[in-house]
Amino acid sequence: MREEGLLEPSADPDEQQLEAGLRPRRMEEFIGQSDLKERLAILIEAAVQRGESIDHTLFSGPPGLGKTSLAGILANEMNANFRATSGPALERPGDLAAVITNLDAGDVLFIDEIHRLPRQVEEVLYPAMEDFQLDIVVGKGPAARSIRLELPRFTLVGATTRVGRVAPPLRDRFGYVARLDYYDSEDLGQIVTRAAGILDADVRSDGASAIAGRSRGTPRIANRLLRRVRDYATVRGDGVIDANTAEIALEIFEVDSRGLDKVDRYILEAIIDKFGGGPVGLSTLAIAVGEETETVEDAYEPFLLQEGLIQRTPRGRIATRNAYDHLGMTPPEVDPQGKFL
Ligand SMILES: Nc1ncnc2c1ncn2[C@@H]1O[C@H](COP(=O)(O)OP(=O)(O)OP(=O)(O)O)[C@@H](O)[C@H]1O
Ligand SMILES: [Mg+2]
Repeated sequence: MREEGLLEPSADPDEQQLEAGLRPRRMEEFIGQSDLKERLAILIEAAVQRGESIDHTLFSGPPGLGKTSLAGILANEMNANFRATSGPALERPGDLAAVITNLDAGDVLFIDEIHRLPRQVEEVLYPAMEDFQLDIVVGKGPAARSIRLELPRFTLVGATTRVGRVAPPLRDRFGYVARLDYYDSEDLGQIVTRAAGILDADVRSDGASAIAGRSRGTPRIANRLLRRVRDYATVRGDGVIDANTAEIALEIFEVDSRGLDKVDRYILEAIIDKFGGGPVGLSTLAIAVGEETETVEDAYEPFLLQEGLIQRTPRGRIATRNAYDHLGMTPPEVDPQGKFL
């Protein structure tokens, strides 16, 4: 069995509970993304002032950046109920109808992985979002008939790791589409410090920075690394987490100085060793590293691109000089235009 990656939501119930305990519940607890927060604050305040529900909102961005957290925060700030489901869980129109007819006015319906909603469910969602009406077919064969239900004015909050896969008619029905970006080290340092407070871990500021700098721009990873470092500090140190302790612990857990984990490095090594530096197509690359194509594309590639370690070309992914440098490998000769020969 493969080891669980650091990036994705854990399948382990203990880990899930720990993560839930660290989840920010209120806007003021949500660190970073200040532009996005300001826009959301305006949406919320305007809705409160007018006594309305907020517009349907879509959050997109790589895993672990806070999409689910923000959805919950929207509901909390509106004093509304939060109902959560996901694209794959809504297999048939009836599944959506069952959820949606149970909503009260103002409720937040959260659909995670909304790009995975089946087409026929999506079609039922359109009039529900737009006109707060639900058309459902009851009965089968000649006895089947369509009935229309009036719905309370709920707010749909969608989340997706790939906004490009959300059907345009669905995307257009969101009043606000927000993109979450990777966090800088300063924000991640604050996230680590906040989590340390909740976990009652003794983290010095240089320790928080060391963890932040290796967190791949991702709060979920920052929190997970903090727990791994805390384990190490408890059993191999004196419980205090400073930079030195953090660095040793993270080396043991195979997180490198740039925050790349094993899978990130497999990807770079595969491009370089197996495909001569690229270009290599995404699905070929995914097979080579034993991951799903979607996982490589949504979870790993965006960070490697942002860090300038790989590049996307029309013919596939290539490793950059930075990637060779980072892995301590010698890049192939380059021509005067800077292209690898
Ligand atoms: N801005 C933030 N401030 C503090 N903690 C955060 C922030 N964003 C995320 N976190 C932490 O990271 C964890 C993961 O966030 P969340 O589950 O909201 O991410 P997500 O974008 O929904 O990920 P996925 O795409 O995998 O569902 C949360 O449990 C929370 O502890
Ligand atoms: Mg989520």
